[in-house]
Amino acid sequence: MKEHVLQEFKVRYGSRPEFLVQAPGRVNLIGEHTDYNDGFVLPMAIDRFIWIALRPRTDRRFELYSIDYDATLVFDLEHVERSDQGWAEYVKGVAWALQEAGHALSGWEGVIGGNVPIGAGLSSSAALEMGLERAFAVTSGLSWDPTAMALLAQRVDHRWVGINSGIMDQMVVGHASGDAAVLIDCRSLEITRVPLPGNTRVVVMDTGTRRGLVDSAYNERRRDCERAAEFFGVKALRDVDLETFEAGADELDYVTRRRARHVITENTRTLAAADAMRTDNARRLGELMNASHESLRTDYEVSSRELDVIVTVARAHPACLGARMTGAGFGGCAVALVEAEQATDFAKTVAADYAAETHLTPQVYICRPTRGVHVVAPDGTSSFD
Ligand code: GLA
Repeated sequence: MKEHVLQEFKVRYGSRPEFLVQAPGRVNLIGEHTDYNDGFVLPMAIDRFIWIALRPRTDRRFELYSIDYDATLVFDLEHVERSDQGWAEYVKGVAWALQEAGHALSGWEGVIGGNVPIGAGLSSSAALEMGLERAFAVTSGLSWDPTAMALLAQRVDHRWVGINSGIMDQMVVGHASGDAAVLIDCRSLEITRVPLPGNTRVVVMDTGTRRGLVDSAYNERRRDCERAAEFFGVKALRDVDLETFEAGADELDYVTRRRARHVITENTRTLAAADAMRTDNARRLGELMNASHESLRTDYEVSSRELDVIVTVARAHPACLGARMTGAGFGGCAVALVEAEQATDFAKTVAADYAAETHLTPQVYICRPTRGVHVVAPDGTSSFD
């Protein structure tokens, strides 16, 4: 795909691009629906990417051709206006957010394409936002602070696109290093790199299902959590420990109680998972991932039949140490931790067993942790930054 992006640039502009930005997708190992509760998450960037090949312009015109959508977006940075064209809104939203934050932007032109599946829970939108910010930064001479840029990208979601997302996706796309997952404290935005246990592989299993109502259900879950935090008299559920929760839980209504229990126990599991990784305890990490799925399925109610089937099929394989849904839920992907030597057999078996049970075609990827968004030379050899 990277070659395709470079080739398309050459066809359109008759030269090699001046810059190539590479922005990865991400998979969350554990810590689901905790980020907007000021809690902990443990995602890693994966080796599926969005690439943007570009060259600066001397004026304020912006032009981008998307290979995936076979469409060109053109606008003047003086007049960034909302319309309803899907991917284009993320692009315009980024230009809007950067300028609103006081950055002086100059125009550029380029080609974008990638292999992060869209809408699958692997953060193609955070990769797009952070990739575009990186492209604007390199063409407009802005300094690159991954946390500040992640916050700006989140602002695009909230204020331009209309999704109340947390901060996990943009932070991991901004901060990931090539060899580790990233523990993020979503209150302080402190990040700690945590290597994967030895002799294991992370396998992403795309159920092939996409759910339309994710946004409204997501915002509803956020409101449930805010109600619970208000009940306990704290800023966010991050501030409630299990003891306090259990002492007060009876007074909460049935739904709010279960939503809160998921978030509180998931925060504990996420910190325990980081400890398990630090002590190279793959088995323990797998158990925590299994427990996370059960909590998301029963207490948080964001799983789906297909996610449950693929998780069950995955756990039936002897090399599987743990498996759970990942991302917002209701469809999309699950993630498994698998013994490295058998990862290929695992991927084949899961694909076949899931297809037999659901008549759907899954995609199964054995993933490596990878570096966050950055600028590479168009020949891929060295970094500009
Ligand atoms: C989506 C959001 C994230 C996070 C997850 C659930 O991916 O963008 O901020 O809330 O859902 O953990």
